[in-house]
Amino acid sequence: MVIRNLRGLYSLEDIIKKILKCDKVVIVSGDIAHNISVRENIGKAAAKVLLNKIGNNSIIAVAGGSTVYHVVHSIKTNKKYPEVLVLPARGSLRNNVEYQANSLTAKLATKLEANYELLNIPDNLSRKSLESVRKEPDIQKTINKILKSNIILCGIGNANEMVVRRNLADTVIEFLNRKEAVAEALGYYLNKDGEIVYTSRSIGIKLEQMTKTAYPIAVAAGKSKAQAIIAFSKFINNGCFIMDEGAAKEIINLT
Ligand code: G3H
Repeated sequence: MVIRNLRGLYSLEDIIKKILKCDKVVIVSGDIAHNISVRENIGKAAAKVLLNKIGNNSIIAVAGGSTVYHVVHSIKTNKKYPEVLVLPARGSLRNNVEYQANSLTAKLATKLEANYELLNIPDNLSRKSLESVRKEPDIQKTINKILKSNIILCGIGNANEMVVRRNLADTVIEFLNRKEAVAEALGYYLNKDGEIVYTSRSIGIKLEQMTKTAYPIAVAAGKSKAQAIIAFSKFINNGCFIMDEGAAKEIINLT
């Protein structure tokens, strides 16, 4: 029975891989809508993918979010990575402190016995202040390293859910509705064709860079994120998606 179930998941992974046109798909059994522990299992599956992908000189950019939190907390290794550098993918995006990219960066680096740098940038800065912070030499150095990252660990959010969680202004929400945003990842909002329609006010990775130099490991759970996963996949032509059956089956329904 267990073997048959696993075979079912393997063939679902093949189908989703073809739809998303990516390097690898891992599907965790269950649906987060019925079982909250699915997020932990996504974390464990993604931790394995990440550990397999890390090379001696990897630069890993880590985004925030509750699913990435579970990935980082599932990392178990006796190996040390003294040449690896872990960085936050972006400055704070108004997550709880335990889910912020900076916290997860420090936690992951400690587990890997790797190096890390943080982006300590306050929330809610005006665009003008953000531009002047961006020019600070230390921040600039860290940003330049982030832009060289070759692995990006990130969550994918449903745009409608993220605007509420991030407490965005009504004017921004209306704008995103008009632009038909369906996905949020790394502070970028995308429409269903994977086009960037809005960028959060924060500093860090450039989504465009993912298509060129980095291997994204993207995690997401739930039917409500299916459209967002499809949109994000249109932005990248490589990388690995780790999701639950709930998201996977809805991706098939939508395509
Ligand atoms: O950018 C997307 C969000 O970080 C996803 O967050 O994993 O907590 O749903 P989540």
